[in-house]
Amino acid sequence: MTDEEWRSRASQVIPGGMYGHMSTRALPDGYPQFFRAANGCRLTDVDGNEYIDFMCSYGPMIAGYGHPEIQAAANQQRHDYDIGNGPSKEIVLLAEALTDQVSHAEWAIFAKNGNDATTICNMIARAKSGRRKILVADGAYHGAQPWAARRTNGTPEEDYVHFPTYEFNNIASVVDAAERVRGDLAGIMVSAFKHDAGQPQALTDPEFARVVRKICDDYDAALILDDVRAGMRLSLDASWTEHGVQVDLSAWGKCIGNGEPIAAVLGSEPWREAASRTFVTGSFWYQSAPMASALVTLKVLNEANAPNYIEEVGQHFRDGLAEIAQRHGHGLSQSGPPQMPTVMFDGDTRFEKGNRFCQLALSQGVYLHPWHNMFLSLAHNESVISESLDRLDKAMGQL
Ligand SMILES: Cc1ncc(COP(=O)(O)O)c(C=O)c1O
Repeated sequence: MTDEEWRSRASQVIPGGMYGHMSTRALPDGYPQFFRAANGCRLTDVDGNEYIDFMCSYGPMIAGYGHPEIQAAANQQRHDYDIGNGPSKEIVLLAEALTDQVSHAEWAIFAKNGNDATTICNMIARAKSGRRKILVADGAYHGAQPWAARRTNGTPEEDYVHFPTYEFNNIASVVDAAERVRGDLAGIMVSAFKHDAGQPQALTDPEFARVVRKICDDYDAALILDDVRAGMRLSLDASWTEHGVQVDLSAWGKCIGNGEPIAAVLGSEPWREAASRTFVTGSFWYQSAPMASALVTLKVLNEANAPNYIEEVGQHFRDGLAEIAQRHGHGLSQSGPPQMPTVMFDGDTRFEKGNRFCQLALSQGVYLHPWHNMFLSLAHNESVISESLDRLDKAMGQL
C-alpha cells in the first residue's frame, strides 16, 4: 500500500487524517505521512523512498535511530522487567546519573512526555509557594495541554488564566509581568532559547537570564527551565548554566532516552519537600525499558561530548548551506544554535520559497523543515553532511 492509500484509510479513522505536529497538513505537498524504517540518521517512507533526516523525530533521536548499544539495553530490560507493581532499580540509577550530570539537580521525577514535565514543574512551584501564577513567554511552546497550548480549540480562557505572558529576552517585559502578579507569583518558565515555530530563533541574552534569576530570588518564586527541546544538544548540563544561571526546576524529555518514551523533572534542594508532597503519576511513568535506554543514552552522549560534536557538524551544515545559497544567488537567514538550525529565505514571509526548496530537497532525499527548527545528532557525521550538501546544491539549483 502506498502513502496515498494509507492517507485515504487514515482519513476514515483518524481525525483530519492525522493530528498534531506530525500531520503533514501544514507542510507543502510531497512530504510523506507514513514511514516504515529508520536507521542512523536515515528514514524510509512507506513508499520506499530514503531520506537523510534533519528533524530527528522533532528531537527525540540524538544518538541515531536503532543505536545498537542503546537499543540492546532497552530490549534486554523489556525482556527482563519493564512494567509491574513497582519500578526497577533503573529509576534510582537514572536519577543518580542525571543529578550527577546536571548541576542544579538534587532529585528527579520521571514521566513520559515533555508536557508532563513542564506541568509537574508548575505544580511543584505552586505547591512550595502556595501561589498561582506562572509567567510564560509569549509564543513559547511548552506542550499541547490546555495551560500550555492556550487559544487552541477546546481550551477556555480559564485554563490559562494563571499563566500571564512576558516577551522572551525583554527585561522590561518580564520585570513588568512579575510586578503585575506580585503576591501571587509562583514561578517563571523560560525556554533554553527562543525557538518558537515559524519565526527566526534568538539565543538567550545572558543579562536577561540573570535578571529572571534575580526576580525569582526577590519574589521567592521558582525559575523553571524548559529544556525539553534543547536539552543535551546545547549542553549536558541545564542549558542556562552556560549563562552562569542555576535554575530551580528543569523539564526534560524528547531525546533523553534516544526515542524511548521518557521525560524528567529535575529539581534543586529547596524544592524537594514540595515535590515530595505533590501527587504526580501515570500508569506508564515507571517503565524500566526507557530508563535503561536513557542510562545508556547519557553514557553515549557524555563519551561523545555530544553538544560539541553536534555543534561542529551543525556548523559544517550551516556553512555549506550558506555557501550554496550564495552561489545560487539566494539570500538565506539561518538562526538558532548550529545544533538546532532554523533556515529561512530572506523576505519569504509566507514560506513559499522555503516550501519549494524543501520539496526539492525531499526529491533529492533530504528531509528538512521549512519553518520549524531542525535537529542534528551524533549520527550526522561529516560524510553525511557532505552528502546532504551535495544533494541540497542540486535542490537549490532547481529553485
Ligand atoms: C520546548 C518544549 N517543551 C515542551 C514540549 C512538550 O513535549 P511533549 O510533546 O513530549 O509533551 C515540547 C515539544 O515539542 C517542546 O519543544
